[in-house]
Amino acid sequence: METVDIGKALLQLENLSIDYRINTGMLSAVHNVNLTLRHGEIYALVGESGCGKSTIAHNVMRLSIDHNEVINGRIIFEGQDITSIPEPEMEKIRGKKIGMIFQNPLDSLNPVYRSGTQVTEALMLDGMSKKEAVLRTIELFRDVQIPNPEQRIAAFPHELSGGMRQRVMIAMMLARNPSLLIADEPTTALDVTVEAQILRIMKRLQQKFRTGILLITHNFGIVAEIADRIGIMYAGEIVEEGTVFDIFKNPVHPYSRALLSTLPRYHKSLRRIAAIDGNVPRITEKRAECRFRNRCPYSSEDERCATQSPNAVSFGSGHIVRCHRAEEDRV
Ligand SMILES: Nc1ncnc2c1ncn2[C@@H]1O[C@H](COP(=O)(O)OP(=O)(O)OP(=O)(O)O)[C@@H](O)[C@H]1O
Ligand SMILES: [Mg+2]
Repeated sequence: METVDIGKALLQLENLSIDYRINTGMLSAVHNVNLTLRHGEIYALVGESGCGKSTIAHNVMRLSIDHNEVINGRIIFEGQDITSIPEPEMEKIRGKKIGMIFQNPLDSLNPVYRSGTQVTEALMLDGMSKKEAVLRTIELFRDVQIPNPEQRIAAFPHELSGGMRQRVMIAMMLARNPSLLIADEPTTALDVTVEAQILRIMKRLQQKFRTGILLITHNFGIVAEIADRIGIMYAGEIVEEGTVFDIFKNPVHPYSRALLSTLPRYHKSLRRIAAIDGNVPRITEKRAECRFRNRCPYSSEDERCATQSPNAVSFGSGHIVRCHRAEEDRV
């Protein structure tokens, strides 16, 4: 089992809420999220489609496309509140101190440049000579386990497989030695074996460079293998947070339990609830209620689920759950 790195806070989200302006009013995509990612740890954010994972990632990087969001709360990176710093200052952080890798590396790699050139140029931005940068690129390609790096640096992105492209993308990010890497579904487009390889590469790099990683993924199996801590999101909220051990061996929230029950090798002694029907609701009216209640097998037993937002309840060091029923369980 992984030991949790108890280093200093690298990224802190404080009561972060993000609403999108939409035709019919406002959509609450992220609601009161508190999250601390420490230097050198891998924090995995998991949850079904539409629960707000990418919204968090894009807003930390300030990469929103539509510019229709309203942000409340604070995003603190290396002790600095970056929630509303001017764009030129953000440009010094983006790419250099916070790197991001996306689902489809072809979107981020330039098709007309050789794969090595893209990494070499990132290094030269930081003042390295061309010769040094090429040697360092080969080293980085080796770090991300690209075979024959001396030859592969000359390949164009379209000549590489999906897995190789994602390795180039990771090498490109690492070239600038960011302290935080945000990986939003970095392996969704890849097949299962390649996915596992890429995630293991990320794990080894985290250990070698002590990069903090915010990993967004649907793949719980991989999370169990490489993450230090996990946040389970539902309809814009983190409903449970804890170490890999807490979440896999002692999940408390009915949503976490339902998600985990869909895993093939899930711990047998845990009571299984049927895989949850329905979808993540789009919240356009903020009410005092539990956002999971319409899909929760227990909400009819407790009137608070319809009238109060659950508070965060501690189940031990760093294991936090938001569920009315859990409050009683703990007593
Ligand atoms: N620019 C936008 N304008 C309006 N609504 C948006 C915008 N971006 C996302 N949303 C909505 O916000 C909610 C959260 O979306 P988000 O993309 O953050 O979810 P996600 O957890 O990343 O999902 P997935 O797993 O499918 O990537 C969804 O209901 C989505 O439709
Ligand atoms: Mg997403």
